[in-house]
Amino acid sequence: MKTEFYKITGGPEDAEVIKRAAGIIRCGGLVGFPTETVYGLGASALNEQAAEKIYAAKGRPSDNPLIVHVAYPEEAERIAYVPPMFKRLARRYMPGPLTVILPKRDVVPSGVTGGLDTVAVRCPSHPVAHRLIEEAGVPIAAPSANRSGAPSPTTAEHVLRDMDGRIDLILDGGPCEIGLESTVIRLAEEGCEILRPGAITEQMLAEECSSVTVADAVVEPALAGDKPLSPGMKYKHYAPAAEVVLVDATADRFVAYVRDHAAKGEAVVSSRTHAYRFEGVPVLYCGETDSAEEESHSIFALLREADDRGFTRIYIQLPPAEGKYLALYNRLIRASGGKIVHMQSSLTGE
Ligand code: TXA
Ligand code: MG
Repeated sequence: MKTEFYKITGGPEDAEVIKRAAGIIRCGGLVGFPTETVYGLGASALNEQAAEKIYAAKGRPSDNPLIVHVAYPEEAERIAYVPPMFKRLARRYMPGPLTVILPKRDVVPSGVTGGLDTVAVRCPSHPVAHRLIEEAGVPIAAPSANRSGAPSPTTAEHVLRDMDGRIDLILDGGPCEIGLESTVIRLAEEGCEILRPGAITEQMLAEECSSVTVADAVVEPALAGDKPLSPGMKYKHYAPAAEVVLVDATADRFVAYVRDHAAKGEAVVSSRTHAYRFEGVPVLYCGETDSAEEESHSIFALLREADDRGFTRIYIQLPPAEGKYLALYNRLIRASGGKIVHMQSSLTGE
């Protein structure tokens, strides 16, 4: 299959391109498209054969359900049974990087939801995603547009690398603003539980829900034999070919550790502020200064860059498992396969 590739320019020609992409979705084809989080690999959410093509293109296990994207939060009613808590969260955070698990209606084939009787609903804020869904006239099932297990794509070039010849068309809307996938939650009576952390944080959800909990697997890689709440949490994810070494240490100790351990062909992830301290160790820049937003925005691209440049091992300082950093923490412990070097020592007071 030849994969068509179009840049979204902001000019009048975009309308034709989006129409073409929407037509492909309606006819059961696959389209890579930008969202504010990461690029998605879209197909009609009402067409079981189209969903099967997504699993084949990604090489994804078919028990890992897809997120269904709608143009407006009200359209959730078309595919799911919608409780008042959803409406409340939607008024505050949709369109945006929030995905809510709801009981599904029969129009959604079970091939889309990995056989579950629930469906994950998200209303993206990216204008290209919005126009594509609206023009297609059907909700769009879309996982991240990477080959299964690889870092999620945050540019159209990443999608082309992973999917060239495997999908019909790619819409290039430039780099994704957020860079990590949406927050996934399930609802309880008055509260909610975070199954996958993202840019909508626990603290933000607590402004609308009386109780917010974080699933254990978010901060610990799922244990063998546990039944994961969200099937996606059980797979090793986001992993580059390079070994990812997470170091749990203060900034000074992290610098010392990297200077002691980094060998030829190995690199460190750092903001430009601290980069000069690593004395000759190649640096993958994750932003100008240390900030959760900049690091989240760049991390998946850096994991891919590490492989492109042939680094065999990369060192990353472990971020805190809280607040705006929780999503980054969650992705990094998966990318590293759970291997963490602990250098904090409360006993010695250091
Ligand atoms: O930001 C995002 O959410 C991106 C963009 C493209 O929208 N999409 C994305 O999809 O990250 P994917 O397929 O890579 O991740 C979906 C996650 C998986 O962990 C999956 O197991 C979980 O959502 N999920 C989907 N449906 C579910 C359901 N019914 N119950 C529990 N978890 C579900
Ligand atoms: Mg994914």
